[in-house]
Amino acid sequence: MKTPHPIVIAIDGTSASGKSTNAKLVARALGYVYVDTGAMYRTLAWHCLLKHADVNDAKAVAAACRKWKTKLECAENDGLRSVRLLVDGYFPEKEIRMPQTAAAVAHVAAVPAVRKWMKETQRNCIQFGNLVMEGRDIGTNVFPETDFKFYLDATLAERTARRTADGVNENLAARDQRDSQRAVAPLMIALGAKVINNSSMTSAQTSGWLLEEIRKIMSAPK
Ligand code: DC
Repeated sequence: MKTPHPIVIAIDGTSASGKSTNAKLVARALGYVYVDTGAMYRTLAWHCLLKHADVNDAKAVAAACRKWKTKLECAENDGLRSVRLLVDGYFPEKEIRMPQTAAAVAHVAAVPAVRKWMKETQRNCIQFGNLVMEGRDIGTNVFPETDFKFYLDATLAERTARRTADGVNENLAARDQRDSQRAVAPLMIALGAKVINNSSMTSAQTSGWLLEEIRKIMSAPK
């Protein structure tokens, strides 16, 4: 398969496997635009809660997703360019990290019409240039044509410890199960993805490994 131009580096993996930290480090190192697709699902979950749409009702969620007024923008903060999804001109940066939003997001992310909308929107991010995109289905579903596919994982104990250190108390085993078992675009390792278990690695080591693998793929003969 041919790599699309611009380049997309797909980083998928379980919750708290270090996707965000490492995707940002890689984006900074390469000067690419960082895209947090989980934040987009969280934004829809927040929007549904705001509009009193029942997140357990797939039809209500799909209707909210059909109607909401969104815009993609690329913002630069502290030298890192990243994509933001605005709703009615607003980026709900803090709201999407609230426990109510976190509890609602897996329901919203399981709705097929939502996944279709997200895929289209996430593919549109290419308008901003080369991307480092993190999520659960980037290598399998959003950009299956990219040559740059990575899957991060760590033991449940290590991932739980990382969340706890961040002050977040979450049942990661339940979240992993919901993400892996949904019917549409479940979390799984993309064909050809390079897999790493970073349980005993620092983020400097993990991002260093990612950058080395990216350079190898870039310099491999086509
Ligand atoms: O990475 P995160 O915790 O912000 O993700 C929030 C939720 O969205 C999580 O339950 C998985 C889901 N998600 C998804 O289904 N597909 C993606 N590409 C990104 C996130």
